Amino acid sequence: MKIIRSPRAMTAWSEQLRREGVKIGLVPTMGALHEGHRALIRAARLRCDALVASIFVNPKQFGPQEDLAKYPRTISQDRALCKKEGVDICFEPTVEAMYPSGFQTMVTLPAIARRWEGEVRPHHFSGVATVVTKLFGIVRPQLALFGQKDFQQSVLVRQLVKDLNLGVEIVVHPTVREADGLAMSSRNIYLSSDDRIRAVTLYRGLQAGAEAIRRGVSDGASIQKTMIQTIRGEPALTIDYLSVCGPDTLEPLSAVTSRVVLLGAVRIESVRLIDNLLAAPPRRSS
Ligand code: PAF
Repeated sequence: MKIIRSPRAMTAWSEQLRREGVKIGLVPTMGALHEGHRALIRAARLRCDALVASIFVNPKQFGPQEDLAKYPRTISQDRALCKKEGVDICFEPTVEAMYPSGFQTMVTLPAIARRWEGEVRPHHFSGVATVVTKLFGIVRPQLALFGQKDFQQSVLVRQLVKDLNLGVEIVVHPTVREADGLAMSSRNIYLSSDDRIRAVTLYRGLQAGAEAIRRGVSDGASIQKTMIQTIRGEPALTIDYLSVCGPDTLEPLSAVTSRVVLLGAVRIESVRLIDNLLAAPPRRSS
């Protein structure tokens, strides 16, 4: 496995391979790799000839009060995981190389970024859209993988690729969970051991909502109430939002008639957790 730090060297490597007809896959990450990333890398490995994993803690997607400085950085373990899983290139640009002085352009998707995570983190999605556009421009992959855990991000990336004709196939990989159901996240390490146990209640709440949908409950407000009641059973959790939405628009739904996404965000002490589940109503027998 090779480590490339310079964007110019990265593009030169990709251009050479593309000329030879090689299919390049990209797994963009901010490092602190866990089993969820491993699953993304494995899924990517099966779908491409040459695999790049980028490791870049993108300052533009953190708000001023957020955890940029303390975001976990575990580069040697990350490289070892990448090597073990057959990554060809670890692309590790510096902040200066990605955002040299004079950098101006920001990519914004106002409608997708308005709600949910966007409400709490106003500049987050513009930072994500900008760095993803840059990574696609530098790495020139034909294929890129993102985790379903960040559902709103995956909707944003698909829209970005469509709007800007970026020509990258986007694959969204199902969320990888701990044995009790907690979605894997680099930020789970911020949880105390007691809060770690309590944290799974978010998943339980989403499951209760999905179960209601599968049983035939179609009223959006009732499904939301079911999720809220489950989560309120754990007083350590504060709900930021719990919603029943269209999976493409992320707009809240008053009635469930086809597949939906249940989106949730909670806080435990100073840690914020997000998760989601897809759910579909029962098929009507005719
Ligand atoms: O999901 C992430 O880790 C980041 O948002 C991404 C896509 C790597 C962009 O920095």
